[in-house]
Amino acid sequence: MIILGIESSCDETACAVMQDDTTLLSHVVDSQITIHRQYGGVVPEIASRRHIESIYPVVDAALKESSLSLADVDLLAVTAGPGLIGALLIGLNFTKAISLVKDIPFVGVDHMAGHLLSVFLGENKPEFPFVAIVASGGHSSLFYAKSYTEFELLGRTRDDAAGEAFDKVAKILGLPYPGGPEISLQAQNGDRDKIKFPRSWLEKGSFDFSFSGLKTSVANYVHKTEERTPEFLADVCASFQEAVVDVLSAKAVQAAQFKKCQQVVLAGGVAANPRLRDLLGKRCRSAGLNIAMPPLDYCTDNGAMICIAGYHQYRQNGPSSLDLDVYSRSPLIMQG
Ligand SMILES: Nc1ncnc2c1ncn2[C@@H]1O[C@H](COP(=O)(O)OP(=O)(O)OP(=O)(O)O)[C@@H](O)[C@H]1O
Ligand SMILES: [Mg+2]
Repeated sequence: MIILGIESSCDETACAVMQDDTTLLSHVVDSQITIHRQYGGVVPEIASRRHIESIYPVVDAALKESSLSLADVDLLAVTAGPGLIGALLIGLNFTKAISLVKDIPFVGVDHMAGHLLSVFLGENKPEFPFVAIVASGGHSSLFYAKSYTEFELLGRTRDDAAGEAFDKVAKILGLPYPGGPEISLQAQNGDRDKIKFPRSWLEKGSFDFSFSGLKTSVANYVHKTEERTPEFLADVCASFQEAVVDVLSAKAVQAAQFKKCQQVVLAGGVAANPRLRDLLGKRCRSAGLNIAMPPLDYCTDNGAMICIAGYHQYRQNGPSSLDLDVYSRSPLIMQG
């Protein structure tokens, strides 16, 4: 089965072509980062306009790169939510139009399911069931994945998502958007034990997260001092990053032990963070757990993860109908 996957939930217009869930034939991403950077974050209306301009060229480029045409495509998969409503509508309506005109079935998929399944794009593929931590710009969630289509929510963020915390702390430090890559770069030269920023563990046994207190603590620390040397910046970044990855990795290991499963998966944009990959890997190994992560290119938004989620959803539930609508919040996150 040839699947064409389209993603437009936030600030990336992306498309990929896959054969089944195993062979990636092409993968194109048009990132809007440089457009939104001047505003310090994503401006929804600008994002929608840019998706309108780039969706056709991106899909066309993905098809060309795969040496296939729409006549070869058996299934269209598209992100239906969660995300920015205006941005999602571009991808969904573009997909519906192709579906109607070319008579190709389509499925609307959940972006979080896409992130969670992006791990299957790597060499080291996990076996079900597994505990997955999805840490991205809008979410920090722990799931117990029973199959390609059954996910139980174990915990979620109560305020800022992990990626959002990176982005906001970067802003406080005068670093450009998106903050995650900038902070992890600065952190390489810093001392992660220099500043003891608070860890929010919440109630005993809770798999929820909270990062807004940490963000406020960094803001207070930075505003209390005039110092802005490269060493100061590097130490704040390293210490803040450590506070985030400490909680994320500890809770992921605890969740796997709680569910008595052997496998942990890390996904979402923050999964590109080298310190998180390193620390979670170490903690999993010392707890006797296997760890699997997507390749770096597939941590942030992409069409390939939408192909995989769409392929399995189609096999399980068949196609979506033309009256499918977009949604801003994920039913996967609202359960429980
Ligand atoms: N090296 C890194 N370290 C930490 N965070 C990172 C790194 N690289 C990217 N990020 C963060 O990942 C986020 C982007 O990831 P992603 O594209 O998955 O999020 P999103 O699609 O905006 O949100 P969601 O998937 O929740 O809708 C940003 O917040 C960014 O700062
Ligand atoms: Mg995302």
